Amino acid sequence: MSGNNAKKSYLVPEEELLKQKEFTCLAKEIISAKFGGRTPLAMVHTYGCQGNVSDGERIQGLLESIGYGFTDDVNKADLVLYNTCAIREHAEDRIYGNVGALKNVKKNNPDLIIALCGCMMQQEHVCERIRKSYPFVNLVFGTHVIHKIPELLYTVLRSGKRVFSSEDCDGVIAENLPVHRDGNIKGWLPIMYGCNNFCSYCVVPYVRGRERSRQPEEIIKEAKELIANGCKDITLLGQNVNSYGKNLDIDINFAKLLEMINALPGDFIIRFMTSHPKDCTEELLDTMARCEKVAKHFHLPFQSGNNRVLKEMNRGYTREKYMSLVDYARKVMPDISLTSDIIVGFPGETYEEFKDTLSLIEYTKFTSLYTFIFSPRKGTKAEKMPDPVSREEKGKWFKELCDLQESIAGKRTALMKGKTYRVLCEGYAREGVLNGRTGGNVMIEFPDTVEGRIIGEFCDVLVTEPLTWIVRGELVK
Ligand code: 5AD
Ligand code: SF4
Repeated sequence: MSGNNAKKSYLVPEEELLKQKEFTCLAKEIISAKFGGRTPLAMVHTYGCQGNVSDGERIQGLLESIGYGFTDDVNKADLVLYNTCAIREHAEDRIYGNVGALKNVKKNNPDLIIALCGCMMQQEHVCERIRKSYPFVNLVFGTHVIHKIPELLYTVLRSGKRVFSSEDCDGVIAENLPVHRDGNIKGWLPIMYGCNNFCSYCVVPYVRGRERSRQPEEIIKEAKELIANGCKDITLLGQNVNSYGKNLDIDINFAKLLEMINALPGDFIIRFMTSHPKDCTEELLDTMARCEKVAKHFHLPFQSGNNRVLKEMNRGYTREKYMSLVDYARKVMPDISLTSDIIVGFPGETYEEFKDTLSLIEYTKFTSLYTFIFSPRKGTKAEKMPDPVSREEKGKWFKELCDLQESIAGKRTALMKGKTYRVLCEGYAREGVLNGRTGGNVMIEFPDTVEGRIIGEFCDVLVTEPLTWIVRGELVK
């Protein structure tokens, strides 16, 4: 960092991480006394996006270093930790329900520690509700203090008191935390955290803090570790990967980072999400086209096809800009598979405006879509906007959109028939049937003619039977 232009460092200081290592030792001592040599079990459940899944891997890494093993059975657990999601009301309601159900589990096992973390817990009104209505919850912490799990857990174990830690800050980057990954074929690799975009409907900037990028050497180090451990499919993660590097003091952007990872030795593919149309450049699309390890799949949420609604959403691009990106992507990568996120029934959206979303779907011919009915989120601008259209009416629009996409997806997968795709075999779909994904992220199922010997390997699969969302095929070699 230098001069007046020095950019803010989000790195958690080395001393703080050392302090947490000391708490790890202290927590370990308490645990070994308490459980008398038995390995205590934690049930960690993550809700929501891949960013949360990646956090969950670090949370599990920290728990493992304290001495916990893992279980999926809540009745065998000594610690239950829910890593929560706040993106829509439905997600939150489900989590409140699941937390409520833990009351009975705790009746049977009064020593059970119940912990809640993640995006929901970064909101004050949620913490208040947990404090008042869920007295059996022992520990609550937000998204910015994951690295402090050893200290937080130690405090709970030692004092037996409830601990709440959801400090509000711009966010941090904690490097070198231990990571516990389930399986080694696919790996999540966070390249940045937070979001500065404040789309008017979205709670993420409030619960995940400011946009901050990891140093490229940290990312490359983690990518190398993944590859050395047999990972064949790396997904780079960030809320808006196209603005990677903006807060760093070095000459780097997402396209350059992709190129660096593409240059690492090994047979693996690179995926990334999520991109934002306002920051997507031709340089990035050219880089994708050139880099042989980068999957030819582009997840580019457009949210709405109407310019007035896009403006109200504070998205920073127009329908025309989106279409020009689609055109350019198809020009440089004719086989590119495009996917997107869409919100139906944004406050004030009319049916006429919604039809612009349908026409953009027809224009682009997406492989698949993630579609959501607008859900008001506390503290966002859209929460206060007049929203005259009924839920029932929005439901009809939603169905119309799904029907349209289903017919497009069916036509797209039909085009795959007779073609051979290079696929990373991920495992069994069911007995005797293996599966994997194409570079374009379409699931292929094929009979296991090799007794599972290709799980974790790339193989060639000929598509014989396209269905709507997935295809079936047979192994070529
Ligand atoms: N209501 C409905 N959908 C939302 N999304 C984000 N916030 C909301 C909301 N308040 C959707 C967007 C985003 C995806 C991850 O979730 O489409 O891209
Ligand atoms: Fe939310 Fe918009 Fe940021 Fe995506 S870019 S996380 S939709 S605010």
